[in-house]
Amino acid sequence: MGANKKVYLVDESGERMCGLDVIEGTEGPPVIDIQKLYKETGYFTYDPGFTSTASCVSALTYIDGENGILRHGGYAIEELAEQSTFLEVSYLLLKGELPTLEEKRDFEDMVLQHTMLHDQLQNFFRGFRRDAHPMSLLIGATGALSSFYHDSINVNDERSREISTYRVLAKMPTIAAMAFKYTKGEPFTYPDNGLGYVENFQKMCFGLPVEEYKFIPESVKALEQIFILHADHEQNASTSTVRTAGSSEANPFGCVAAGISSLWGPAHGGANEAVLKMLDEIGTSSRIKEYIEKAKDKDDNFRLMGFGHRVYKNYDPRASILKGTCKEVLGALGKDKEDLFVLAQELERIALEDEYFVDRKLFPNVDFYSGIILKAMGYPTSMFTVLFAVARCVGWIAQWNEMMRDSDRRISRPRQLYTGERLRSFVSIEERK
Ligand code: SDX
Repeated sequence: MGANKKVYLVDESGERMCGLDVIEGTEGPPVIDIQKLYKETGYFTYDPGFTSTASCVSALTYIDGENGILRHGGYAIEELAEQSTFLEVSYLLLKGELPTLEEKRDFEDMVLQHTMLHDQLQNFFRGFRRDAHPMSLLIGATGALSSFYHDSINVNDERSREISTYRVLAKMPTIAAMAFKYTKGEPFTYPDNGLGYVENFQKMCFGLPVEEYKFIPESVKALEQIFILHADHEQNASTSTVRTAGSSEANPFGCVAAGISSLWGPAHGGANEAVLKMLDEIGTSSRIKEYIEKAKDKDDNFRLMGFGHRVYKNYDPRASILKGTCKEVLGALGKDKEDLFVLAQELERIALEDEYFVDRKLFPNVDFYSGIILKAMGYPTSMFTVLFAVARCVGWIAQWNEMMRDSDRRISRPRQLYTGERLRSFVSIEERK
């Protein structure tokens, strides 16, 4: 990474105001380094939503939105989804390389050592209402981890960060499954370290103490793939939240809890739950046109959930993969003629023929099909974003580690364009009209 050319800011008369370095990365758009802009010109930049702003340097994930490309460590998401496991992809995100057989075994063993929670955390769950949204339990329990693991919250110590990383990766499935069990009124199922990461999670979610849990291979494979597809995604809203929280040197469990809160929003990770609610509301193909018109109506705040993306102006590669998986899993579960799946495909077909969506490059995103698969697996819509969080926590903690190792790390503190009142004198309450 180096600056090999400059651009110049000039005023209306053509007078040069300052020269700014252009920095090239490995791939993707170069950046203009504006760190000295205010000092040299007295100007801030303005970019709400950061559509044109790079907030950091990162080597974990590369997205080319125009061409529907997603890579982790240089590997195409299509190959990772088809040929690797979630823990292999987790290793890749954390270490920068795919593991050898021995490295994979050691990594899996380390994760397995941290799957259990401090038993007192069960009391924490019991303080919640049974009908609480599982995301609220996930936020609370994850933040509470920092009250149990004081030995690994020294964020400036590499070994502490490593232990916290394993704890987040290993405990998130346990917390998520406990949140699910608690809302169902079923007893918690302890982790079974004789199982793989995904099987363990499925058994903790659906296993019962009164019978042996039977796995459905297609369902395990599909969930493994869903976890891989949701692992990391550059500087999305929740990842940026984790980085911002971590920039103040807050503990990693609190940072991840902040990320879960951001992910919960329907414009972000909550969209998979919102897609199912939207499909349920549409109900039949005959009503699709009505909802397409609502989505296009500027006076109606309804948007087509699962469509559009800040970065992808082409098909989200994850959506393409999940559409195929959806067919496979529903077929294996005998649900491929499900009204929901048929309706979703018809909605996609009609939307992609409509110039409003075509002109704005609004294609299905990762959330459009994931919910249908999860519903077929037996998860309620309230658990969809929880599963997204279980997968994304490795991306959050990998990005947090990358930031904590970055020698250029500084506390995030954006400026603003002030549009409030100028100086005025205080008026006592007796004189106010
Ligand atoms: C995720 O960032 C990530 O990487 C996120 C994610 C990840 O893995 O972390 O990929 C996961 O969050 C996927 C996105 C899930 N959200 C949804 O499916 C909710 C529905 N989508 C929209 O809310 C929206 O598309 C966003 C939030 C995803 C993107 O919003 P942008 O980039 O701010 O887009 P925009 O508001 O600038 O929209 C551009 C135009 C506008 O119309 P005009 O003003 O140009 O006339 O497109 C319209 C928008 O009104 N538009 C939509 C629409 N999305 C955008 N119109 C109808 N339905 C939609 N879904």
